[in-house]
Amino acid sequence: MFNNQLVSFSGIQPSGNLTIGNYLGALKNFASYSEKYKCFYCVVDEHAITVRQNPADLRRRTYETLALYLAAGLDPEKNTLYVQSHVHEHAELAWILNCFTMFGELSRMTQFKDKSAKHADNINAGLFTYPVLMAADILLYQTDVVPVGIDQKQHVEICRDIAQRLNQIYPDLFTVPEPVIPVHGQKIMSLAEPTKKMSKSDENVNAVVYILDDRDTIVRKFRRAVTDSDTVVRYAEGKDGINNLINIYSSFTGKNTEEIEREFDGKGYGDFKVAVGEVCADALKPVQDKYYEILSDKPALEAQMKKGAEEASYVARRTLSKVQKKLGFVQVR
Ligand code: TRP
Repeated sequence: MFNNQLVSFSGIQPSGNLTIGNYLGALKNFASYSEKYKCFYCVVDEHAITVRQNPADLRRRTYETLALYLAAGLDPEKNTLYVQSHVHEHAELAWILNCFTMFGELSRMTQFKDKSAKHADNINAGLFTYPVLMAADILLYQTDVVPVGIDQKQHVEICRDIAQRLNQIYPDLFTVPEPVIPVHGQKIMSLAEPTKKMSKSDENVNAVVYILDDRDTIVRKFRRAVTDSDTVVRYAEGKDGINNLINIYSSFTGKNTEEIEREFDGKGYGDFKVAVGEVCADALKPVQDKYYEILSDKPALEAQMKKGAEEASYVARRTLSKVQKKLGFVQVR
């Protein structure tokens, strides 16, 4: 709660280009949240450095991610949009929470196991305590709900465990947050291997549709999407490729499965794939136009970042100070 309003917090890493999975599962729904919640959206640059980053790329992507939040329709007057490293309380609270998080519980995190297998030459302590920094992000704002993809659910659960542990020692310290997993878009699969989630870090660019792909690229990628040898557009068990395309079409158009099956009755996969590509390209076009316009005005974007950081700091400072006091840190002010 903040000023009698429920709080929603979410973060996106400024690493890699965002996909239509990120768009449908997260960004697209974010704008409607501000009617119900006080929303904080954070570009988590400190999380990004748990794997090696090229500094110029990280800097550019930080601007780009913020621009994308704005382009997706998040009104900066209603939402707090900011960059994690601009609010030092995140790193400070993370340290404190580290002292209340067990080695064993962090060792069980699926994402840690996956990422350390993938970056075997750089299994650093930051990668290990990544969920603790994420818990700090969330708890600093006394967050009630955390909209995330299904892959981040375990991280919200450990955040809840940490919050409950501290609340037991220091009553009423933190709000215990709930994860909110969107119904739509949580399962946008790879176009090349439709049993695998569409991932922004996939090496096969044809498997992934990026939010910023141009129309021709989008249509071409969908046309090449892997499907089965059937021809009738029908949602069915085991038809992962076509099911994925139906799900994407449905997410962009709001039509349900039956309506889609009827619409493509008598037409083949080829026509359907082109149609999916076209609705996707049409839906992304206004977002892309707005994105390039916003990105072209760096000073305005920086002013936006500054405003967001000030708003976020105000809340973060209050929580951190409360924590420090309860823990027994001396406060001279
Ligand atoms: N770990 C999240 C991801 O990779 C990003 C993130 C960082 C986040 N801090 C957060 C998401 C707090 C929600 C809330 O997708």
